[in-house]
Amino acid sequence: MIPASAPIVVRGTGSYAPEKVLTNGDLSRLVDTSDEWILTRTGIRERRIAADHEAASDLAVRAGAAALAAANLPPDKVDLVIVATITPDMPFPSTACLVQHKLGIPRAVCFDVEAACSGFIYVLDLAANLIRAGRFHTALVIGTEKLSSILDWTDRTTCVLFGDGAGAVVLGAGSPAEAGFGILGSHLGSDGAQADLLHMPGGGSRLPATPESLGDRMHFLKMKGREVFKIAVRVMEQSALDLLAAHNLEPHQVDCVIPHQANLRIIELLASRLDLPLEKFFINLDRYGNTSAASIPLALDEAVRGGRVRPGDLVLMPAFGAGLTWGASLIRWS
Ligand code: UT7
Repeated sequence: MIPASAPIVVRGTGSYAPEKVLTNGDLSRLVDTSDEWILTRTGIRERRIAADHEAASDLAVRAGAAALAAANLPPDKVDLVIVATITPDMPFPSTACLVQHKLGIPRAVCFDVEAACSGFIYVLDLAANLIRAGRFHTALVIGTEKLSSILDWTDRTTCVLFGDGAGAVVLGAGSPAEAGFGILGSHLGSDGAQADLLHMPGGGSRLPATPESLGDRMHFLKMKGREVFKIAVRVMEQSALDLLAAHNLEPHQVDCVIPHQANLRIIELLASRLDLPLEKFFINLDRYGNTSAASIPLALDEAVRGGRVRPGDLVLMPAFGAGLTWGASLIRWS
């Protein structure tokens, strides 16, 4: 039995980015855009694009295997697999079940969560609380996306922003000696009234695929970028402040912020509103663009492996995405 007060700690992290690099210059040959526009408006220089044979589960398996290796954990010790994605291999079965099979995890409860770019923050909170409740011992939590499969490559307002990738963490109950470390808490929010700001209209039960829906380009991601931008800054700031206040902490006590990597200008505004120097933010969107549910765990893994996150550090991870959804997680790194 896991005591309710047991710390829930990250045992290992992993990530995977497909080999193919698509630069801003490459995009300027596809649509009416330029390296200068993309770089100054977003901070993105390039993104990764999965191969035709790679689906979201394949990216997830690479990230998940790396996280298990970092945790030094055999697959048979995992009893919970949760995948956050908006680009599952197929509507059903869940990508988590496909990942379970490919990783050779013999016995686990597996399911997907769909909270778009906030997906990883949602599944981290969910997995931590399921372990804390004594229901599971060890969770493999993954954010994975093949966004290139739902991008309209004729729409310059969206296709330049996104990329493919995956990130994963292994979560488990810590020992009494680890008290005060691990996942300290999360703050989550949603507002379905603003669903149409960022969505994919086709392919579900509302608008199944028909020759007309395909012709009308309904099976691609659509976004009202300017509106999303303003809300993103506001709700990420509020989530971060509420979460820190709930733990009697101030922004200046945070050692490393790993934000959802959507736009450098959003991150700069967030830094200024939290009165934190940009140096405290881990940023890799220049190399990957926005990878939705994969963005935070991919950045977390790079920050950990690169020594930017060290034991004892207070790590804040704010996110924002379609739904609308938003949230933040706080970890005392162990
Ligand atoms: O993951 C969570 C969800 N996503 C986000 O957080 C994204 C939030 N939004 C954004 O990051 C920004 O709003 C964008 C990067 C999407 C757009 O930047 P913006 O500074 O808000 O530009 P805008 O939409 O106001 O467009 C400015 C101009 C427009 O031309 P006009 O109307 O001023 O003549 C656009 O047509 O830039 C034009 N434009 C482009 N020009 C060159 C839009 N996309 C492009 C492009 N290349 N790729």
